[in-house]
Amino acid sequence: MKSVIAKELVKNYRVKSVGKKSKDADSKKIVRALDSLSLEVEEGTVLGVLGPNGAGKTTTVRVLTTLLKPDSGSAFVGGIDVIKNPHEVRKIIGLSGQYAAVDETLTGWDNLVMFARLHRMKPAAATKRAEELLEQFSLTDAARRPIKTYSGGMRRRIDLAASLIVRPKVLFLDEPTTGLDPRGRQEMWGVINSLVDSGVTLLLTTQYLEEADQLADEIAVIDHGRVIARGSADELKRQVGGERLEIVVEAEHLDAVREIVARISHSVIIDRDLRQVSAPVSTGTKALIEAVKALDDAQIHPLDLGLKRPSLDDVFLALTGHSAEENETETLMKEER
Ligand SMILES: Nc1ncnc2c1ncn2[C@@H]1O[C@H](COP(=O)(O)OP(=O)(O)OP(=O)(O)O)[C@@H](O)[C@H]1O
Ligand SMILES: [Mg+2]
Repeated sequence: MKSVIAKELVKNYRVKSVGKKSKDADSKKIVRALDSLSLEVEEGTVLGVLGPNGAGKTTTVRVLTTLLKPDSGSAFVGGIDVIKNPHEVRKIIGLSGQYAAVDETLTGWDNLVMFARLHRMKPAAATKRAEELLEQFSLTDAARRPIKTYSGGMRRRIDLAASLIVRPKVLFLDEPTTGLDPRGRQEMWGVINSLVDSGVTLLLTTQYLEEADQLADEIAVIDHGRVIARGSADELKRQVGGERLEIVVEAEHLDAVREIVARISHSVIIDRDLRQVSAPVSTGTKALIEAVKALDDAQIHPLDLGLKRPSLDDVFLALTGHSAEENETETLMKEER
């Protein structure tokens, strides 16, 4: 069964531009945030919605969590129509937005109890649920401190805990690890993985290719409000071709290494600045072993040598013709609002 279905969602925003031209009639620009976006999430699985700044990730999440009405298209969560029955949808979902929803001045404990009470839980049940969640997210020690004293990682965890008060069937996480340091990110990944093990259906957005690779069963790559590719991380990586053999040697050996690699692969590239020879290979580690043997026979000792699988960054470049960072103009526009 599909827990989440979005069909041809369209959402336009009107943006009033500020600055010189603001008096012109055409200064009201329309931004198409969702441009016939469709996606599905199978029950009990994780969909990673991957896209750069301004791709439409938050807008998608806001539509699916009933916070925003699309201009056209339809959406169902847990079989319920998001546009017709938003109240019913809200009962079965959890949302941890891109920006924390917790009250900074209250303690972690107070925040969770407050959220539970907002969900109409009785005081005793609310306290019990708050304590369970604090324990689950390793926040018991910090429970009586105001949120403003929490680290970035602790904030994201308390925010996630708040979204789990009613044990949602479907959980939406908008960029759960943005702004966290590597350790905070690892911790968050652990927390998210244990949630997934407990059976929740998850839609998460991310700009981190590695994160989608780590957490998601399936990835939908979005750009300019459309899904431009979908598949498992491995399937997407395969779209950019197989693995590459990369060998770094002292400059004087570059030509000899090129000849060796040419016996293994049909197209060899030399980068003299990086002192690197690289080539696509289809036989994986077998090609690596062949290369090592031939280098050893020729008494060439590489400085570095390996088999590189394409990253999801490479996938993005191959799919869109531009790197994930090149949407910056859109972001600027967004900040000017
Ligand atoms: N309230 C709004 N008013 C006008 N334009 C908006 C509004 N919200 C988003 N947009 C525009 O819609 C597009 C999609 O924005 P959205 O926030 O969904 O992107 P995103 O993928 O979540 O980006 P980020 O990674 O920066 O969070 C962008 O071009 C953005 O500028
Ligand atoms: Mg966003």
